[in-house]
Amino acid sequence: MFDRVNRETVIENTVEFVKETLQGAEGGHDWFHTLRVWNTAQRIARTENVDPFVISLGALLHDIADAKFHGGDESVGPSLASGFLRLEGVDEGVVEHVVQIITHISFKGGNEVQSFRSPELDVVQDADRLDAVGAIGIARTFNYGGHMGRKLYDPDIKANLNMSKEAYRSSTAPTINHFYEKLLLLKKRMNTKAGRALAEGRHQFMEEFLDRFYREWEGES
Ligand code: ADP
Ligand code: NI
Repeated sequence: MFDRVNRETVIENTVEFVKETLQGAEGGHDWFHTLRVWNTAQRIARTENVDPFVISLGALLHDIADAKFHGGDESVGPSLASGFLRLEGVDEGVVEHVVQIITHISFKGGNEVQSFRSPELDVVQDADRLDAVGAIGIARTFNYGGHMGRKLYDPDIKANLNMSKEAYRSSTAPTINHFYEKLLLLKKRMNTKAGRALAEGRHQFMEEFLDRFYREWEGES
């Protein structure tokens, strides 16, 4: 396929742009999160019929300006990403696809209808979700809770599975609740076969972690 740009150069420039933009980001949404998602997305992409260029750009740019760190504004990420890609001379069709990926990747409480889907979004979303589960997922969740000043756990505050996008975003619940409100729900929401297989072991590890957490909370074991 004819391309106006050299894909490798665009990807190298995107890496630099993302590293620079995410300097000082919260530990769970920093360059290393992006790097893990990119690696996992490429791994899953090998088993799917998808455009690797869109996969790389979508993964690299998916958290360039997460709305929860921009006063809830969901337009900052897509406009930063599209502005950057247009300056790089990337085809408009690719730019628009990447913008759709960034716009629709997020969980947002899980009760929103996702109005866009593509095989490339399916792959990048699985990779992002895989980084939210397992040992890394646990570490990121407690880091985010600490960043937001949340309690670790409070037995009197129950998980809420019926939150709107707004309630989910503004929740001040203890971090343990986030396991029930999002992390443990992800296994059933994986889009790809490879993603589902990877989610299995990570899910199991979180179940074991929670089991042990409650036993230690009670002073047992
Ligand atoms: P969202 O869940 O809003 O789509 P992300 O996908 O960016 O947001 O969330 C990434 C990770 O950030 C979560 O998997 C979790 O580790 C952490 N995180 C997000 N919201 C919370 C929360 N309310 N409590 C604890 N951790 C959270
Ligand atoms: Ni992410």
